[in-house]
Amino acid sequence: MKRSSSFELFHGDAMEVAVGGGWPCGAFRLIYTDPPFFSGSRRIGTLPGLTFDDRWPAGIDAYLDWLELRLIGLKPLLMPSGSLVVHLDYRAVHDIKVRLDRLFGRAGFVNEIIWHYTGGGRARKRFSCKHDTLLWYSNGPNPLFNVDMVRIPYKPTSGYAKGGIISAAGRKYLPNPLGTPVDDVWDIPIINPLSHERTGYPTQKPLALLQRLISALTDEGDLVGDPFCGSGTTLLAALTLGRRALGADVSAAAIALVKKRLETFLEGIYVELIDLPRKSE
Ligand SMILES: C[S@@+](CC[C@H](N)C(=O)[O-])C[C@H]1O[C@@H](n2cnc3c(N)ncnc32)[C@H](O)[C@@H]1O
Repeated sequence: MKRSSSFELFHGDAMEVAVGGGWPCGAFRLIYTDPPFFSGSRRIGTLPGLTFDDRWPAGIDAYLDWLELRLIGLKPLLMPSGSLVVHLDYRAVHDIKVRLDRLFGRAGFVNEIIWHYTGGGRARKRFSCKHDTLLWYSNGPNPLFNVDMVRIPYKPTSGYAKGGIISAAGRKYLPNPLGTPVDDVWDIPIINPLSHERTGYPTQKPLALLQRLISALTDEGDLVGDPFCGSGTTLLAALTLGRRALGADVSAAAIALVKKRLETFLEGIYVELIDLPRKSE
């Protein structure tokens, strides 16, 4: 196949790409991070070799220090109007929010996005945990937000959608033909086990989730980074939306999978692998 563009994919620790691996400072409109969640288990995919370790024998504080160090390293890579989104769940998101408020200032916090999904088992002794949380922080006072790029259809029952409304002062408000602005609770299904989208990587996120985030928080041509890229969902979403992207992962199996995934789905792309030396923390 004719290769018309090349893409750099980094094999190494997120810390190394942030502070010593050649990712440019002040260049990213969006850095999305989906790190290990402090689940306490080895995450095992559906294909041999696709695993990553999410066990933290030294406890929650060691995990929080580990992640905070990497988030501190990533912040200078953001543009002044750039955003950092940290994707976690109930296990550590509240602790990390406190640390991110310190890092970005409380004014830097923009949204807590709840990704609600269904499927999988149901709990019997408590409410089933069926959401993740994405914390959105802005590096400056004016983060980019393309509200019109991510509107969703009005509810079929919406009277406003059918004919608009007239205010008490007699002013008429008409529905937007693009739909209504999306709120901070996103109902997006997890990837169906039979879907072509499924790569076999554990904790793979749906393209639809990343497409919405990237469409809202970046413009075409912007640089998007994912230093815990796993199966490469963010990178595939960004590149198909006309953004530039850089990805990294510490797992060699993940990096090989991303190379194959991008070269399969993006015609004409050649993924160049860059090995970063492993340094001690
Ligand atoms: C939750 S998964 C990411 C899943 C990804 N968003 C997807 O859709 O496939 C977390 C990833 O972080 C990687 N990881 C763990 N420690 C890392 C580190 N220190 N630096 C970079 N990547 C790391 C793991 O190998 C794993 O692929």
